[in-house]
Amino acid sequence: MQIISGRDIAQEIRAELKKKVEQVSTYGVTPGLATVLVGEDPASQLYVGMKNRAAREMGINSRQITLPEDTPESELLGVVAGLNADPEVHGILVQLPLPEHITEGMVIEAIDPLKDVDGFHPINVGRMATDTGIYFAPCTPAGVVEMLLRSGHDPEGKHIVVVGRSNLVGRPLASLLLRRQRGGNGTVTVCHSRTENLSSITRTADILVAAIGKAEMITGDMVKPGAVVIDVGTNQVKDSTLEKGYRNCGDVLFDEVKEVAGAISPVPGGVGPMTITMLLSNTVKSARLTVAMVESDSD
Ligand SMILES: NC(=O)c1ccc[n+]([C@@H]2O[C@H](COP(=O)([O-])OP(=O)(O)OC[C@H]3O[C@@H](n4cnc5c(N)ncnc54)[C@H](OP(=O)(O)O)[C@@H]3O)[C@@H](O)[C@H]2O)c1
Repeated sequence: MQIISGRDIAQEIRAELKKKVEQVSTYGVTPGLATVLVGEDPASQLYVGMKNRAAREMGINSRQITLPEDTPESELLGVVAGLNADPEVHGILVQLPLPEHITEGMVIEAIDPLKDVDGFHPINVGRMATDTGIYFAPCTPAGVVEMLLRSGHDPEGKHIVVVGRSNLVGRPLASLLLRRQRGGNGTVTVCHSRTENLSSITRTADILVAAIGKAEMITGDMVKPGAVVIDVGTNQVKDSTLEKGYRNCGDVLFDEVKEVAGAISPVPGGVGPMTITMLLSNTVKSARLTVAMVESDSD
């Protein structure tokens, strides 16, 4: 049984990205990431801090803009417009969720698709779904695909069952796995809360991805012997034996499923570290695109 360590794979990718940052700097370009945080949600503060730190470690310029909770939507749209126009910013990330008085869709659509390193802009989503043009794939699904490829489990020709159909994970992951290119060519089934006979479907998966948000829901009897299992879930369950009173776990009952699966990703140390890495990857890709444009302009 193989443990698929997202932590190790993320390190491997970050080492490659560092080289790309150096390469692009020979053109006088330093990749730049701007993060925008509205309000004081502690989880969002933590995520944004982690993203900025990871960017700096990579040699990416990172800029954090923090706005008060009651920031009017128009002001936030103005900030986004300023970042769109700033040539030193290659990636813009507006941390979600936004306060209720702001329409998330409006803000996402205001981001220049060529700087939308979260991959949520409808233009990026559409290009990914149709596999046309240049686009940024959303970070968590892109991280899952990288984990599969780099752990020796190319999805090509395999039956992949994705449990979860959110716009953040399940749906875009299905799009990526269907593409006619490396990391794609899978046969994909997407399940959700209305799926009947879920376990009879998950048992047919060569690769099973759980993106549900229900602690340890995938049990050993739901998995085909030898299957590859990727756990996207991040949950907290009460645990009075621990000082903090809870433990972190995924959507997969790890100890049971690892006895059946051929390969499995743990939580923590699985998909989590990959998500931030793919954000960095998209930011570097955006900066490299700028250089390519400069080159063709000078032709
Ligand atoms: N590690 C990371 O970097 C990372 C990043 C993003 C998300 N996550 C984690 O991944 C998990 C999923 O996130 P999400 O944003 O996709 O969650 P979400 O928006 O709540 O979507 C959950 C999906 O699971 C489906 N579902 C819920 N209960 C089910 C059941 N009993 N049987 C079958 N399907 C069921 C839902 O079906 P319906 O559509 O029918 O409601 C929905 O499609 C969460 O734990 C989240 O914290 C981790």
